[in-house]
Amino acid sequence: MLYRLIRPLLYRMDAEVAHHLAFGALRRAARVPLVTGGLRSMAQVRDPRLEVRALGRTFPNPLGLAAGFDKDAVGFEALGALGFGHVEIGTLTGQPQEGNPKPRLFRLESDRALLNRMGFNNGGSLAAVPRLSQPREVLVGVNIGKTKVVPEDEAIADYVLSTERLARHADYFVVNVSSPNTPGLRDLQAVEKLAPLLRAVRDALDAHSDARVPLLVKIAPDLADADIEAVARMAMELELDGVLATNTTIDRSGLQTPSATVEALGAGGLSGAPLKTRSLDVLRRLRRVAGDSLLLISVGGIENAEDAWARIRAGATLVQLYTAFIYGGPLLPKRICQGLAQAVTDAGFDNIADAIGVDA
Ligand code: FNR
Repeated sequence: MLYRLIRPLLYRMDAEVAHHLAFGALRRAARVPLVTGGLRSMAQVRDPRLEVRALGRTFPNPLGLAAGFDKDAVGFEALGALGFGHVEIGTLTGQPQEGNPKPRLFRLESDRALLNRMGFNNGGSLAAVPRLSQPREVLVGVNIGKTKVVPEDEAIADYVLSTERLARHADYFVVNVSSPNTPGLRDLQAVEKLAPLLRAVRDALDAHSDARVPLLVKIAPDLADADIEAVARMAMELELDGVLATNTTIDRSGLQTPSATVEALGAGGLSGAPLKTRSLDVLRRLRRVAGDSLLLISVGGIENAEDAWARIRAGATLVQLYTAFIYGGPLLPKRICQGLAQAVTDAGFDNIADAIGVDA
């Protein structure tokens, strides 16, 4: 309700300024323990039907906030209080970096989409360590990427540096090789480059944490179908824990927003509703190759409980969103969790895990 009043004001601002204002206000409010408690009781849906055991943890519900919203791990507790079952922080890089020149985030309202070329603006993986070392209530995935100025032949060392720093502070780890906004990054998705990178990160996780930290790779929707299947096979060979699909797309076809051309807005990755069909298709492909031997996290165009339910039935154990949170507001996680709990009962299941892959 309140968000509906504030939203027109936020939408009059530059999208990145609005993000910082809204996220900053949430974080400041959540510093008062009474407010966090109030948020939790207002927004969280604690329902045994939604509890999922995955990656060695118990997720209170399958819905997470996707990477990129809390890049520097400054507000994951507040976001957890809003009802996300997990928050993926990052992408963090080995060195701090400013990202691309502004403006670099655009709303495409009639498409329920966002276009961004943030370029991994973040304070670097070292700066996040003290924040991630605190005891916390919410499960946190750590998503890492390559520093822009690091040449491709030193990419592994950059990922390993971040891994060494953050291994013991993550509930799970994600190697991001799928942002379109770091030149050359997506080339690392080629299996012959990806396998050594993932092996090195796996070794660094094992060497720097007493507990085994689950490792996943996050892929782009723009890979050819054969490459998606190759990544799934490689992930199984390397005994990765899972695959996160998908990141944003560089495809702008079929958009309603006339100004969303590369000429008018420049380069960037598209997220939100236009990604829905492809993201579901990628999920189905991964499931077909991997069965239930990889944990799949589906992200891309999820806007409501129906979308989330369809992903779970197609084989996702967990789901995430980013863009729909911008359009739907702070009570969206609650609405989705309530809808999912109802869907579990309507389908005759006791727990949401019973629905994973039933359509596959
Ligand atoms: C992102 N995304 C993203 N992903 C990632 O792995 N690391 C990152 O740093 C970012 N940064 C980022 C910034 C902005 C502004 C957006 C909109 C998105 C991608 C995100 O995690 C997700 O994969 C896609 O946005 C698709 O999901 P939605 O937005 O369609 O729900």
